[in-house]
Amino acid sequence: MHVLHVVGARPNFMKAAPVVRALDQRAGFRQTIVHTGQHYDANMSGVFFRELEIPQPDVNLAVGSGSHAKQTADIMACFEPVVRERKPDLVLVYGDVNSTIAAALVSVKLGIKVGHVEAGLRSRDRSMPEEINRLLTDQISDLLFTPSSDANANLLREGIAADRVFLVGNVMIDTLVRLLPKAEQYRPQDLPGRYALVTLHRPSNVDDVPWLEQMLGTLVRLTDNLVVVFPVHPRTRQRIEELGASVFGNGRLRLVQPKPYLEFLALQRGATMVITDSGGIQEETTFLGIPCLTVRENTERPITIRRGTNVLVGRDLKNLEAEVERVLAGDRKPLERVPLWDGHAAERIADIIASSSTEDGRSYRNCLPNSISIDV
Ligand code: UD1
Repeated sequence: MHVLHVVGARPNFMKAAPVVRALDQRAGFRQTIVHTGQHYDANMSGVFFRELEIPQPDVNLAVGSGSHAKQTADIMACFEPVVRERKPDLVLVYGDVNSTIAAALVSVKLGIKVGHVEAGLRSRDRSMPEEINRLLTDQISDLLFTPSSDANANLLREGIAADRVFLVGNVMIDTLVRLLPKAEQYRPQDLPGRYALVTLHRPSNVDDVPWLEQMLGTLVRLTDNLVVVFPVHPRTRQRIEELGASVFGNGRLRLVQPKPYLEFLALQRGATMVITDSGGIQEETTFLGIPCLTVRENTERPITIRRGTNVLVGRDLKNLEAEVERVLAGDRKPLERVPLWDGHAAERIADIIASSSTEDGRSYRNCLPNSISIDV
């Protein structure tokens, strides 16, 4: 069976890596990796392939940046001839980025089966580009691999046939589990025992420049109590540059380049708290048991709130400061393990793909432990 993986942006790489490995360990699979080039900077792309030990892409579409329409259209136009030429049996797409929907749409129209890894997550906020990508990709995918039971419930509610949906767990956590021992070698240098790690890149936070300036002001204020380390995404860097240098008055607010995977994992592991608007980091902090304050009004990953360390602080900086105080005072949320976030999600995906290539894949559902219930 020929499986073609499509990756494009930073969070795709950690999700694809374990699936490529799991299929590689089974007989009967040929694999092709296509990088759309949505992310292209060395520290947003190349370094992840090396650290995650993903084979170099067979094809790089090198589409680069652009408006949503242009980026999505460029990926589609460049990807279509690749699918025609390579003739995969299954295209696997990951997460919720523009590369995900673009590749799914091309494939399904060419009559190729599509599998969506990380299906079913919903923020119910249609102003988020990722929510549109999630909704549409799930509607047209043949195999939907979900990370948690809330995602199954979302898909069923949207009328997606239950026999296309497979609760497999979280592939991002597979990568974390595999590489955490290696990340331990990257003990954060030059950092005190107590620091906050910050990432902000959502358009709703950083493209609103006055709001971004207020958030940076709050981060400066937090440095009265702890050092703040902020690896800055390229989108955010552009906006900060528009603000000028006035916000960088404090040496305890450290704005640094985006970090490679292992170093960032080590930074999360050692942090007193993480302040973020990322999706994946809400999951990683839950797994690691590190308090996470999410600067958003909603999350597509409610399991990290219900069972994990995540708190939605909303668009409310007073609330953010109050939550920071709470964490510093040692008031921690109780942590429950999330079922199937165990380092083996990709193996389950490989098993399902293997059985779907022979008979119909549905038989695998019966192998899931009875203890896994839909809890919403
Ligand atoms: C994309 C995803 C988002 C994901 C994020 C992770 C979509 C709709 N959004 O957002 O879900 O959380 O990736 O990072 O797909 N840029 C560079 N170098 C790069 C990549 C981008 O300088 O390697 C700059 C460009 O100016 C670009 C901007 O960052 O215009 C935004 O990049 P883009 O891929 O459009 O979206 P992200 O904000 O990265």
